[in-house]
Amino acid sequence: MLRLDKFERFPLTFGPTPIEHLPRMTAALGGKVEIYAKRDDCNSGLAFGGNKLRKLEYIVPDAIASNADTLVSIGGVQSNHTRMVAATAAKIGMKCVVVQESWVPHEDAVYDRVGNILLTRLMGADSRIVPDGFDIGIRKSWEDAIQSVKDAGGKPYGIPAGASVHKFGGLGYVGFAEEVRRQEAEMGIRFDYIIVCVVTGSTQAGMIVGFAADNRADRVIGIDASGTPVQTRQQVREIVDNTAELVELGRAVRDDEIVILDGYAYPAYGVPSHETNEAIRFAARTEAMITDPVYEGKSMQGMIDLVNKGYFPEGSKVLYAHLGGAPALNGYSYTYRNG
Ligand SMILES: Cc1ncc(COP(=O)(O)O)c(C=O)c1O
Repeated sequence: MLRLDKFERFPLTFGPTPIEHLPRMTAALGGKVEIYAKRDDCNSGLAFGGNKLRKLEYIVPDAIASNADTLVSIGGVQSNHTRMVAATAAKIGMKCVVVQESWVPHEDAVYDRVGNILLTRLMGADSRIVPDGFDIGIRKSWEDAIQSVKDAGGKPYGIPAGASVHKFGGLGYVGFAEEVRRQEAEMGIRFDYIIVCVVTGSTQAGMIVGFAADNRADRVIGIDASGTPVQTRQQVREIVDNTAELVELGRAVRDDEIVILDGYAYPAYGVPSHETNEAIRFAARTEAMITDPVYEGKSMQGMIDLVNKGYFPEGSKVLYAHLGGAPALNGYSYTYRNG
């Protein structure tokens, strides 16, 4: 029994997210593996929702208790995370500063004006574009932004990239695992594999701890979209250890229980390959399920490839965790101008 209940949770989501069977995708992939999706992309009415809200639900009580008046976070120009921090700040009545680093070597005429960054600005966040490149770790530009709030007489509350290396960053996705277990009991099925996109790490790390409770952490298949998988894996390892202790898992998670496949992030973080684009079109045309070129398009590509390669034994039930991210598509309008 994991001790998630001892942590305060500030509701930002609608509650449990639906699990959907995907019959046309299942058939199009040969019918030997049943594909389902857990729709965390539809988890909230806050600015299109997504995975960060599960994490932020456990971070907001700490932010409020600290008497902060400004949330300060960081991501790329088309960051879903900074959109979600801006949404959370608006919802709880705090100010928001977000540093948007130039993580993606992608040029589209409207890249810094549409999608996530448009929504972030619309919600009143002070969005600051800086030239620094991609890195999932603690960033100087973020520390500088925190200092700038202090210098202006404000009280900042820092949330690192992806809310991942925050002390409570892994808790939300422990909750995801508990939720899946309850839904499995209601549906009378059990998923053999869970597919999840991994970049800053706390989504998969939380799931690993959550599913370690019934010894299937190694069935959580992380698809790396960072292009820096060594650093991502190390960050997942740290978050797993911290989160396991917080929820009193009662044992150490072994290295072989952390599964991250690194063959799909090419050519770079935030840049879709031909295969990524084909995966995005495939999900859209079989199930009207919209994925993006930065994150879910790559985990979709990974899942399709694994099914085609026979990675999952015949008869397996595979749960694709859809973590959100569709607003970023607007920043790639030229890529998809013909569909
Ligand atoms: C839509 C989407 N999918 C997947 C991820 C990866 O999650 P994490 O950063 O927790 O590894 C993110 C955030 O980075 C995201 O915004």
